[in-house]
Amino acid sequence: MDEAETKKYTLEEVKKHNQAGSSWLVIDNKVYDVTKFLDEHPGGEEVLLEQAGGDATESFEDVGHSSDARELLLTYLIGELVDEDKIQVKGKEKKTIPLEENKSNWMNSLTLPAAAVAVLISVAAYKYFHT
Ligand code: HEM
Repeated sequence: MDEAETKKYTLEEVKKHNQAGSSWLVIDNKVYDVTKFLDEHPGGEEVLLEQAGGDATESFEDVGHSSDARELLLTYLIGELVDEDKIQVKGKEKKTIPLEENKSNWMNSLTLPAAAVAVLISVAAYKYFHT
């Protein structure tokens, strides 16, 4: 089992296993051989075949699989992606980073005009009171 867990595959290699005869999936950078699971998947073989040969992390997470389903994954684990092909944790980090960026963009886009207006008002007030 240890050996299987550490076996490394390239995405190129995974891509070849994209049919019912041999179906591999990548979930969280780990490689699963689901060929024998196709018939047993409660969600049907179609959805697995659609993802076969590629990254199924998002679809797997979208469905909100149970912890039983997650345990079942281990049965089909054959290894993981080589470091070069690993996909950076999409779900959690990517979603929050753009949000934060948006926030700061939004801030920046407002602070500058607001500061300009404040300066203008001060100048106008100064002139008003000193003339
Ligand atoms: C090796 C990978 C997978 C395993 C072990 C697995 C396992 C399971 C299990 C045990 C269920 C029953 C409900 C539950 O316990 O959550 C289930 C349901 C389901 N799965 Fe998966 N699944 C895998 C991959 C996928 C993928 C990649 C998709 C997506 C496109 C998918 C789509 C679904 C759907 C739509 C259901 C709901 C079926 C229903 O409620 O009628 N599954 N899966």
